[in-house]
Amino acid sequence: MSADKPAGKKPAKAAGKPPVKSAKAARPAPKGGVDGRPAVAKGAKSKHRSNRAWIDRHVNDPYVQAATRHGYRSRAAYKLAEIDDKDRLLRPGITVVDLGAAPGSWTQVVVERLRIGAGPGPGGRPPARVIALDILPMDPIPGVEIIQGDFREEAVAARLAAALQGEQVDLVLSDMAPNLSGIGAADAARSAHLWDLALEFALAHCKPDGALLIKVFQGSGYSQFVEQLKRRFGRVAVRKPPSSRQESAETYLLAQGRKAA
Ligand SMILES: C[S@@+](CC[C@H](N)C(=O)[O-])C[C@H]1O[C@@H](n2cnc3c(N)ncnc32)[C@H](O)[C@@H]1O
Repeated sequence: MSADKPAGKKPAKAAGKPPVKSAKAARPAPKGGVDGRPAVAKGAKSKHRSNRAWIDRHVNDPYVQAATRHGYRSRAAYKLAEIDDKDRLLRPGITVVDLGAAPGSWTQVVVERLRIGAGPGPGGRPPARVIALDILPMDPIPGVEIIQGDFREEAVAARLAAALQGEQVDLVLSDMAPNLSGIGAADAARSAHLWDLALEFALAHCKPDGALLIKVFQGSGYSQFVEQLKRRFGRVAVRKPPSSRQESAETYLLAQGRKAA
């Protein structure tokens, strides 16, 4: 899906509520996979069946259909749009870092809601700024600085820090999720490592009243991470937007108001 044209289209706010009858009505997929996609299937036949079921569900998914109509690069756009409808994180003039940004649908929502490219910010202040990072290449989005690299590498985190030029960040988004191997303990450890790195980045670069919105998976390491967030931020909330499939272990944590170290 080509979606480099967020400006001038229907605002994502309205598009954040596609005419969903019930996402739950779709056939459930096994837990654990990214976005509910089966992580591992046992035999060739069952693998074929579960892939078929995933494809069927995907093409019939109202969020997938709405994303296609709207020009979003993935249905994930609605997860951020729905959270932002509730929490109003995307305010004019802010600086946003989007970790794990590819293919770019969250970035598209950010760009739409911050009116990137629509001139100076409120009161003539500099316009909002968005930096998107992913290990994968990502098609350009006008007004967005894109960094390609593995966030686990110090050199990549340093490139991101350098791009900020000392500017503090209002909002760190992390939708990063590792490729799943199907080996539960290894996948949990990989995920938790990414959560820790995103938290470390947010603590180092967020404004005191800044926020971190991060995707996590319920299961191993989840409650420890929530506790860690609570130690470092004044407010921590759990968000499971309607577009996040109920059967998926993914959930979002919103941490706001960094505590003094
Ligand atoms: C669920 S997708 C993000 C979807 C994105 N928010 C969107 O709306 O289009 C997870 C992303 O995390 C990225 N990712 C995983 N491990 C990463 C790492 N070590 N460094 C940077 N990005 C990573 C993946 O490449 C993938 O694009």
